Amino acid sequence: MAQLIPVDPFDLIIFGGGGDLAMRKLLPAMYHRDQDGQIPDTSRIIAAGRSEMSRDTYLGTVQEALNNALGKEEIDPTTWQRFSARVNYIDLDALNADSWAALCTLLEGHEHKIRAIYLATPPTLFGPVAQGFQTNGLMTDNMRIVLEKPVGEDYESARAINDAVGACFAENQIFRIDHYLGKETVQNLLALRFANSLFEPLWRREVIDHVQITVAEELGVGNRVDFYDDIGALRDMVQNHLMQLLCLVAMEAPASLDDDAVRDEKLKVLRALRPITAENVKHRTVRAQYRAGAIGGVAVPGYIEELGGESDTETFVALKVDVENWRWSGVPFYLRTGKRMPAKHSEISIQFKPVPHMVFDDAHYDTLPNRLSIMLQPDEGVKLRIMAKEPGPGGFSLLPVSLNLSFEETFGVRYPDAYERLLIETIRGNPALFMRRDEIETAWRFTDGIIAGWKEARQNVETYVAGAWGPHAASSLLDRDGRAWEVGS
Ligand code: BG6
Repeated sequence: MAQLIPVDPFDLIIFGGGGDLAMRKLLPAMYHRDQDGQIPDTSRIIAAGRSEMSRDTYLGTVQEALNNALGKEEIDPTTWQRFSARVNYIDLDALNADSWAALCTLLEGHEHKIRAIYLATPPTLFGPVAQGFQTNGLMTDNMRIVLEKPVGEDYESARAINDAVGACFAENQIFRIDHYLGKETVQNLLALRFANSLFEPLWRREVIDHVQITVAEELGVGNRVDFYDDIGALRDMVQNHLMQLLCLVAMEAPASLDDDAVRDEKLKVLRALRPITAENVKHRTVRAQYRAGAIGGVAVPGYIEELGGESDTETFVALKVDVENWRWSGVPFYLRTGKRMPAKHSEISIQFKPVPHMVFDDAHYDTLPNRLSIMLQPDEGVKLRIMAKEPGPGGFSLLPVSLNLSFEETFGVRYPDAYERLLIETIRGNPALFMRRDEIETAWRFTDGIIAGWKEARQNVETYVAGAWGPHAASSLLDRDGRAWEVGS
């Protein structure tokens, strides 16, 4: 396990403190950091929510949430005692000027500590909360504000939010979360590319045929359906998580890992994306929605049944994306994400070109091009497909085999949740793993183009049976180019 670097004392103020994200991710993440001894004694977690409840009631909910989040692991009594003593709850309606008093009282006298604000709220509150800190005299020299995704729903709304928060906080104090950037395996992509000399000479159009990125989820939309119906998979997953993965694969080597070096390189990729518009949208995108089906032998309802009404919101998207620069010209990136697919499985697959000339007698081989698979979840690791000679004295047959590295087997440690790292990086004041304003706005411009293209070209939402790897059209997207999805085909 990498050595833990302690952080300075802090107050973490979570808006939306009673909500789903706080309970499922943020509080369990802080509990784990506390268990590992990374949280200094005087640090506090102040949860702010709109429900009126006592601290004890809130702690009861936190304990229940921890039990769910820890799964088989039991809550450690010593950690719980220490952790629960740090947690406070206040009811606060950010839009009501009179309701800030309790927070002001709690923060008085703690100005010397790091003050980190986490906005686990709808984006419409980001500006008003930032403003609330200013008008209530709660700004200190050492502050950061975290904006949970989505930052807006398109380029214009993202700009308005960025302007509103930017009027109170400097850009280097604003931490826009994309939790994929905190995942160990996503960071490992940086290690793989830039801590090994092996891959760089191969990481280019001359050698790579195409790249596939799949982020498949088994779960459906469930109780988020009302929120989700206004958003859809393109905004929920592609604009942020898949675009970030694409950037990490396609970007040039940064000069360092400091705040801006990586983000500058990612931005160049986003700016190099060939726009998808009404002219090419039908050829380059597939949008679909799940209907009733079965996953692992269990019947599951369709999206329409979950919603209880008609909708053409997509729960699946596949895209063919071009990065127009010297390194990637002519190398398509196929992106795919969907809910209610057969399994939770995220993988990046780098497909190399076939050998230029085959020297083996074609009666005895079935050769496949090399493939580097980077498994992000759930079985984190790296696999390289190579061709090998089949053992035996007669003839010369070739077989594909895998060099297989499983991180779990190699390191034998618990993989921390992305939020553990991201919260600690926030407290430390390191924005490198967060999205900068220009990145997020450029990504929105790209996805806005697709949404406008769908409307203009009247591209209907297709359907797929829950438990399938998407609609038939998603296979055709690659089929047309003489290729096939690696995962699930
Ligand atoms: C969130 C999306 O950002 O990411 C969810 O809003 C999605 O719809 C989730 O389920 C997936 O995250 P993970 O870490 O489970 O892959």
